[in-house]
Amino acid sequence: ECAEKAGFETFMLKEIFEQPEAVAETIGDRVRHGRLVLDGIGVDDAVLRDLRRIVILSAGTSYHAAVAGRYAIEEWARVPVEHDIASEWIYRNPVLDAATLVVGISQSGETRDTIEAMKLAREMGAHTVAITNMMGSQITREVDSVLYTRAGLEVSVAASKTFTAQLSLLFLVALKLAQVRETLPQEELRFILDEVYQLPHKLQTFLDGNHPIDEIAQRHFEKPFFLYLGRNIGLPVALEGALKLKEISYIPTEAYSAGEMKHGPIALLDENTPVVVVATDHKRVYDKIVSNIQEVRARGAHVIAIATDGNEDIQHHADDVIYIPRSPAFLQAVLAVVPLQLLAYRIARLRGLNVDQPRNLAKTVTVE
Ligand code: G6P
Repeated sequence: ECAEKAGFETFMLKEIFEQPEAVAETIGDRVRHGRLVLDGIGVDDAVLRDLRRIVILSAGTSYHAAVAGRYAIEEWARVPVEHDIASEWIYRNPVLDAATLVVGISQSGETRDTIEAMKLAREMGAHTVAITNMMGSQITREVDSVLYTRAGLEVSVAASKTFTAQLSLLFLVALKLAQVRETLPQEELRFILDEVYQLPHKLQTFLDGNHPIDEIAQRHFEKPFFLYLGRNIGLPVALEGALKLKEISYIPTEAYSAGEMKHGPIALLDENTPVVVVATDHKRVYDKIVSNIQEVRARGAHVIAIATDGNEDIQHHADDVIYIPRSPAFLQAVLAVVPLQLLAYRIARLRGLNVDQPRNLAKTVTVE
């Protein structure tokens, strides 16, 4: 088992550090000489052009990938996207028609809720596509076509590299739709594609760098509650960061849309509350996030911001800042989640917990 961990103390840490490779393999030859070659959605371009709606169904961490996917697909390809938790969607008598593409995301391909939802979608006549990391898994037999992430085997119960691989693949799906539907200028499409291609390198740069994650973990590992905030593409990052901490450290967490904080979670804040804020560059929401940080600070809570390299302004607002490499807005999700995975990891280790196999959780949930 030690050999399989390749010198890392746990599978989770190994898998966090494997993210540059997981993303590089997933992009693979789908981006060739600056051109996007994405086969596997399984329908003609004409069908993609006429799509009226996309529904993305999933559970757990894969659900957070779906939330991120919606922002990219709607912005770049201008198709309305609805995402839902598979176990909710299936029991609400969903409305579907043949002009809807239904995407099921499941790392393992074995999550019962997601499989049942995809079966129902197919019965209702929608075209179904699975995004999974496992060849030959159950979900691949229940859908019309399959797109694989190529993250390699993930052993740790808490997902890490499969999440960033899912995000990267969803960005390619969004760009494919934009290409076919001609919703992005050629130069912009090429620019974003090139930036997707650079993600593995930027992930590596972050992982090789020095960041204040250990100090932050030391200061806060005994705190009773953490709040995570984000807006737009920062929201799924906050959701995933909060899930990671909850899963492996057993600290209660809440993740919220930063704009919604004033309608509830603000009541939870005091001098003892660490608040993790995803404050990466996004021209439409950055200023709003800064005012949310000020609201948090005014209640005496401690702000840990995730920001983009070169952003000095944030230092005037946050108590701690962890910087990630610069990248266009949506792609920052792939980079911004890494410090949150590492923060959760360090806190769980300081609490002396079994990170790879947290209590009560299973890697694959094959019951409804
Ligand atoms: C379990 C795992 C999570 C995972 C979720 C969905 O709860 O502990 O890490 O995100 O299942 O799994 P899937 O394989 O469908 O992505």
